[in-house]
Amino acid sequence: MIVKTRIGILTSGGDAPGMNAAIRAVVRTALHYGFDVVGIQDGYNGLVLNYIERFHRGSVANIIQRGGTILGTARSKEFETEKGMARAKQVLEDHGIDVVIVIGGDGTMRGAEAFSIKYGVQMIGLPGTIDNDLYGTDFTIGFDTAINNALQAIDQIRDTAASLERLFFIEVMGRLSGFIGLAVGLAGGAEDVMIPETPTDINALAHKINESIKKGKKSNIVIVSEGDEAGNAFTIAAKVKNLVHEDYRVAVLGYIQRGGTPTANDRILASKLGFAAVSAVREGKFGCMIGEVKQQIVCTPFRETYEKKKKIDPTLYKIIEILAT
Ligand code: F6P
Repeated sequence: MIVKTRIGILTSGGDAPGMNAAIRAVVRTALHYGFDVVGIQDGYNGLVLNYIERFHRGSVANIIQRGGTILGTARSKEFETEKGMARAKQVLEDHGIDVVIVIGGDGTMRGAEAFSIKYGVQMIGLPGTIDNDLYGTDFTIGFDTAINNALQAIDQIRDTAASLERLFFIEVMGRLSGFIGLAVGLAGGAEDVMIPETPTDINALAHKINESIKKGKKSNIVIVSEGDEAGNAFTIAAKVKNLVHEDYRVAVLGYIQRGGTPTANDRILASKLGFAAVSAVREGKFGCMIGEVKQQIVCTPFRETYEKKKKIDPTLYKIIEILAT
């Protein structure tokens, strides 16, 4: 009897729009090439707790357009313990799972690195996070949807900003990275963007805002990325308060950025990377995260994806500055 290679798939960390499209791509490609596939629920927790279910074509029907993840996700503390990992390894053996494909952010890649080294598990990663902060891919699955969600909200806030001639500080997600902030700052026509990667100068910010008011601009929007060293949007607004001559409001966009229908870009990226993940399995390539760099599929060792820093594009900053003047 021929025993088929069995692939397990899980999503871990924060959910990101497009994760479902990636799950679908992995499952359908794997079945096409004759693999068995099982879904692992709730991230690494599901491996520890034995939440495993056999997948067939229909298991991933009608999900390409859905946000979140049908597999559920978690930030598993249990999996980080020796006992938890040992249990996870036992569950893999009990189910005859030969390969695990994980979709998530830096925490997910750290887990994959630790597990594959300790137990020699064959693993492949896919970048799924709205933050876009993984080295080894130009874009992560979920980033495009998140910036479009944020932009929609910013455009709506601008209606009020312009009507009342008010200054707005809008906080976006990103944890410790400014990719979301920079992208929506440029696309949303912001006056300035505060991101963790560059030092925040409160006096310079106040000067810019005052100049803009002097010019008669009706709406002024400042984007603050979470993780900025000068503080969150409320803190930065309070610091600027006595230096500017305009009433202001603060809006924290929060989780609306992470939900909803994935954009075409995210679905296409997820489908390409999901397909590539199974191709890597077929080639016997493990221990790395599949990504797309300059339109080429690459597989970057897990450790590099979170230890190396993907650089923000400083020209975007410059463009924002010039376009705002
Ligand atoms: O990593 C994605 C992200 O949405 C970050 O932008 C944010 O800092 C964090 O997750 C929020 O985490 P949680 O879902 O645990 O509140």
